Amino acid sequence: MVLCFEVYSPFLIVLTMNIDPSKRPWAEPFKIKMVELLKMTTREERLTAIADAGYNTFLLRSEDVYIDLLTDSGTSAMSDHQWAGMLLGDEAYAGSRNFYHLEETIQNVYGYKYLIPTHQGRGAEHILSKLLIKPGDIIPGNMYFTTTRLHQELCGGTFVDVIIDEAHDPLSTHPFKGNVDLNKLEQVVKTYGTERIPYISIATTVNMAGGQPLSMQNLRELREFSHRYGLRIVHDMTRVAENAFFIQQREYGYLNVPVAQIIREICDLTDAATMSCKKDALVNIGGFLALNEWDLFEEARNLVVVYEGLHTYGGLAGRDMEAMAIGIKESILDDHIRARVGQVIYLGEKLYQAGVPIVLPIGSHGVFLDAKRFLPHLTQDQYPAQALAAALYVDSGVRGMERGIVSAGRKATGENYYPELELVRLTIPRRVFTQAHMDVVDYSVQNVYRQRDQIQGLKMNYEPRYLRFFQARFEPI
Ligand code: F0G
Repeated sequence: MVLCFEVYSPFLIVLTMNIDPSKRPWAEPFKIKMVELLKMTTREERLTAIADAGYNTFLLRSEDVYIDLLTDSGTSAMSDHQWAGMLLGDEAYAGSRNFYHLEETIQNVYGYKYLIPTHQGRGAEHILSKLLIKPGDIIPGNMYFTTTRLHQELCGGTFVDVIIDEAHDPLSTHPFKGNVDLNKLEQVVKTYGTERIPYISIATTVNMAGGQPLSMQNLRELREFSHRYGLRIVHDMTRVAENAFFIQQREYGYLNVPVAQIIREICDLTDAATMSCKKDALVNIGGFLALNEWDLFEEARNLVVVYEGLHTYGGLAGRDMEAMAIGIKESILDDHIRARVGQVIYLGEKLYQAGVPIVLPIGSHGVFLDAKRFLPHLTQDQYPAQALAAALYVDSGVRGMERGIVSAGRKATGENYYPELELVRLTIPRRVFTQAHMDVVDYSVQNVYRQRDQIQGLKMNYEPRYLRFFQARFEPI
């Protein structure tokens, strides 16, 4: 049973996180041993930098950025143990000891049987898609992710969104907006037949919905459904620890269950997984494909040699695999995950209280500004989220990312996708910034919000063919 959050206001939902029920102040469960100096810039310098970058925050130079909230991917700070592990890299071409450490860690922590290391998440998505998808196939899932869907499409598949409707509504305070709508899924199965569905794709948490979790109850129902129809569940476990934390905090019966145990329960309800270890697992590079079926593993082990590297390194150095193995173990600690998500909630609560339109409930890896409500004077074709991300950078040097019409891209037919959600993501790297940095971000967003009427729309003057949001260029209308 899921706690009945509908009776609470959105504000209470945000506060029911049990970050510290006694209301004592909390602080990060680490201390800082090394620092990276940041360059301060003037408004004039930032105006030039963003124009040179074609109003795309991906094209800014990092040294022109003050607080970098572009992504939580590969931007985390490693621990002293992880750095020490880097020196234990066994850089043998084949059979590195770090591979075996990583394999054992994944088996023990997540429970999947077979490991294929890859250079990052999309490397695993590439191999998985090649392994399972044939032209004409349909892949239902709880909202798309950019790279995941593109690899499905490049193999001739079509992604079909079966997430609950609430996920597309930034104002809905449903506690598990990452849930699959089983009626929608059943409809997909009835329409296309199980032969055309190689697997059901589920993500923990759902990035494009605002870092929203899936509930254990929903996953159990999905497992029952998948058994009934003989379908596999493939798990994008990029932020599984964050999803597990939300289950612990919000789902009936889990408050005293350690996050590590919840993670294991999630993984045990699925058949295979892709992971970008650049998020949860606290490393700057790395990913993997994990499988439970020997036949698929044999095939994947063969494919990885073509695209990534030998099956015992998959495009990674031995030292990277060691840092991943240690990072995975640190990522499942309750104290770590509470502080990590707690920092995101800290920023989100401040913005919410100031009346800034954000996606509710506050997600796990970032605060998502609702650009449609922030800039109601712009149409979606004027790229409101892109314009807002640029304006925020100019105000303070804080770098966020567009997650709206630009990220959604075009269908195979060439038409634009028009996603309901038009968002700017302020993504918080793990163990990198302090509460004071969050206060600076809060101030700047509020400042931009006060001047929102002056923000102009943009037009795109360069559009790359794939994943256009990374490299597209814009100019003010
Ligand atoms: N799946 C999810 C849910 C992701 O968020 C990402 C990456 C990937 C797969 C692909 O992994 O980058 O290692 O190849 N998300 C980054 C982000 C890019 O900024 O959200 P990757």
